[in-house]
Amino acid sequence: MKSAPESLPPRLRHLIGQGVAAIDTPALVVDLDAMERNLQRMADYARAHGVKLRPHAKMHKSADLSLRQMRAGAVGVCVQKTSEAEALAAGGVADIYISNEVIAPAKLQRVATLVRDLNARGGRLAIAVDSLLGIDNLAQAMGTGANLIDVFVELDVGQQRCGVAEPAEVLPLAQAITRHPALRLAGLQAYNGSAQHLRRVAERRAALDVVIARVQEARRVVEAAGLRLPLVTGAGSGTFGLEATSGVFGELQPGSYLFMDADYARNQADPAQPAFEHALFVKSQVMSASAGHVVVDAGHKSHAIDSGLPRVHGEALEATGCSDEHTTLRALDGAPLLPLGSILWLVPGHCDPTVNLHDWLIGVRGGLQAGTVAELIRVDARGCLD
Ligand SMILES: Cc1ncc(COP(=O)(O)O)c(C=O)c1O
Repeated sequence: MKSAPESLPPRLRHLIGQGVAAIDTPALVVDLDAMERNLQRMADYARAHGVKLRPHAKMHKSADLSLRQMRAGAVGVCVQKTSEAEALAAGGVADIYISNEVIAPAKLQRVATLVRDLNARGGRLAIAVDSLLGIDNLAQAMGTGANLIDVFVELDVGQQRCGVAEPAEVLPLAQAITRHPALRLAGLQAYNGSAQHLRRVAERRAALDVVIARVQEARRVVEAAGLRLPLVTGAGSGTFGLEATSGVFGELQPGSYLFMDADYARNQADPAQPAFEHALFVKSQVMSASAGHVVVDAGHKSHAIDSGLPRVHGEALEATGCSDEHTTLRALDGAPLLPLGSILWLVPGHCDPTVNLHDWLIGVRGGLQAGTVAELIRVDARGCLD
């Protein structure tokens, strides 16, 4: 068991070593036993399939959890934001990939400072680009020096978010990167977020066929011009098995697998991928009860609802509504409603923005009923949006 850090707010400090019942509601709780099984399963899967694992730390925003993933075999972590990278670096993570575009010169100055810091620590920073302007601004911020930062060209592989639209457009960007000595052409960023939550396995396979074909075409165009894309990186918790066995992806970036939210639980399971358990819960309490429904004390200031309402863990109850501080539940199939004061464990609809609502994760061992608070994990990059 860890000792309580001095920086802990007093309302949390006393919890370490206490039973789960001592956790006041609402609170964000991690089942550490389930989380560790998830962590190990993904690490084992990547190792067995000969691909690198670089989990997405935008999900948990924790340096401590990043380092645990790395101790289990991950080569480093991904983040989306410069400030997330800074927060994790300050917490001891030295190999970070900003799998996203950074354009603003002022922010790229911070990227350059971080590069110097990580390189001095024997670490590495990488970043994604999808424009000549982005490459020029990055090169300007990096100044002189050789191979200071790894740069991935992002290709849109179906999400219509960032990335160049056509595989052939990867080439001019790859060529531009090689003209700047401070930048190293590291490969291709190819992530399709919308494929992750396609419900049926067949739909995800079809989406990944498109991803893989586009990656292969980009590679062909770049290699025909005499350049190489050393590494193709991408994948999330919904499709990583398809990227891992594609023969073209060398690195996986899943994030949600560690906590597994209610939205991912709606996916049809792919027998080719390991299954993951829910490990993130909002402990809540029934604070009001009517004839047809009950209300718990956790609303969408406690858990994100952009990907749907939470599930109620282990109870025949369904969330029917949610407001700032309340979630309304009704009984399923005529099951009895629970009395006032009952404790309910909500599985958030979407783990990433849920974690970002909290400063600390309360880590429990021994289960949600009879377990003990074993540690408190800081959400280091909470609110790091720039
Ligand atoms: C670029 C990128 N890679 C990987 C992931 C991880 O996806 P997931 O949390 O669904 O595993 C995300 C999530 O949005 C992402 O944006």
